[in-house]
Amino acid sequence: MTTPRPETLAKLTPVLTKRWLSPDAWRIGTYEKLDGYAALRKALNAHPDDLIQLIKDSGLRGRGGAGFPTGLKWGFIPQGDGKPHYLVVNADEGEPGTCKDLPLMTHDPHSLVEGVIIASYAIRANRAYIYIRGEAVHAARRLRNAVAEARAKGYLGRNIMGSGFDLELVVHSGAGAYICGEETALLDSLEGFRGQPRLRPPFPATHGLYASPTVVNNVGTIASVPYIVLGGADWWKTMGTEKSSGPMIYSLSGRIANPGQYECSMGITLRELIDLAGGMQPGHELKFWTPGGSSTPLLTAEHLDVPLDFEGVAAAGSILGTTATQIFSDQDCPVYATYRWLEFYHHESCGKCTPCREGNYWMVRVYRRILAGQGTHEDLDTLLDTCDNILGRSFCGLGDGATSPVTSSLKYFKQDYLDYIEGRTAPKLSDKQLVGA
Ligand code: NAI
Ligand code: SF4
Repeated sequence: MTTPRPETLAKLTPVLTKRWLSPDAWRIGTYEKLDGYAALRKALNAHPDDLIQLIKDSGLRGRGGAGFPTGLKWGFIPQGDGKPHYLVVNADEGEPGTCKDLPLMTHDPHSLVEGVIIASYAIRANRAYIYIRGEAVHAARRLRNAVAEARAKGYLGRNIMGSGFDLELVVHSGAGAYICGEETALLDSLEGFRGQPRLRPPFPATHGLYASPTVVNNVGTIASVPYIVLGGADWWKTMGTEKSSGPMIYSLSGRIANPGQYECSMGITLRELIDLAGGMQPGHELKFWTPGGSSTPLLTAEHLDVPLDFEGVAAAGSILGTTATQIFSDQDCPVYATYRWLEFYHHESCGKCTPCREGNYWMVRVYRRILAGQGTHEDLDTLLDTCDNILGRSFCGLGDGATSPVTSSLKYFKQDYLDYIEGRTAPKLSDKQLVGA
């Protein structure tokens, strides 16, 4: 393990993570002692439109993967339309490698609850939901406890802190389907239907929950709001880059000495993150990595100095996504890793559209053939052709995302595929594993 350099350490910016290590930070008493609910008090004295403007000025962009400007999204909610408005927090974190929202909700649930109240006030919603993935039982328990504590203190319910603003907040557990993290499938699931994506447009901003204007935001996005209200837009912009402002929680996993969550100024590089994490594991050399979960095209050791912000990663041919940086070494196989991801997408495909449902099924079979030592050179063309028929032709992002590891691993590591096909690498799968995809 190596010691981080001082200039790298300076890039650590604990904002959303700053309370995580305080004992009992999840209890309201501790949270209040550490500035908790001070932002709410300030926000309720402001005009809702001024809060939307503040979030616009801060440049905050969605932390769920797409990086859509948050203030702009809030501003889409039509006012004076006579319809109920809803805020829905997408806590259905399910992207492989992604694990930043779960610790936030477990260690500091009140920051999310406080953010929900402020955001709901800004968009004039009197009902909000946190849709959390079914497997996250402990985090859901902590959240429900936080909601009960906030209600007992008058931060939720009727006439919050004498402001005249009412808000009910419900924590809803999903049933473990990855597709329910897609915002419209999530809304269907919340309404009690089978979670399948809806056609967009119209977007949830105008036709969301129960066909009413709805803001759907990620956990990290909403938990950022109290800090911006207290610190101001200019302070927020002292971190990050011009178009990707603020701190970001980078989740490091894989072949590094100290995997975990590193909250840093946006624009940090993987070289610096690895330095913060104590270096690679002994005997391992970086071979490939995902900048933001498995739906984002793989990058390689050539990309160690790419700024990890929305623009920097896009310029390198990938997507910042959920900042789940999964790190693989020279002892890992990109073909096998891609196959495992594809099995995930095949399993999680909701089946609504043909390119994703059939394409992933066939690609899994082709990968099994290659990994069992029975692949052909034509299989590589078949994979690219199948991706071509999925990308841009699928109903939602799941299909598009499934093609990312395939096309990027073929771009950078074609030789690893050829080594299986031409018999230089020993098969990883047996004949028995060829069928049954
Ligand atoms: P998107 O870019 O289509 O939309 C982003 C947000 O902006 C949505 O809330 C959408 O409603 C809103 N929006 C976009 N254009 C709009 C318009 N013209 N009017 C009103 N609202 C508009 O991205 P999408 O499909 O919602 O999310 C894809 C991302 O999700 C991927 O980049 C991926 O990284 C991430 N993802 C995250 C996962 C997780 O576990 N956190 C799981 C899987 C994917
Ligand atoms: Fe369902 Fe896949 Fe089509 Fe999305 S792309 S609607 S997950 S079948």
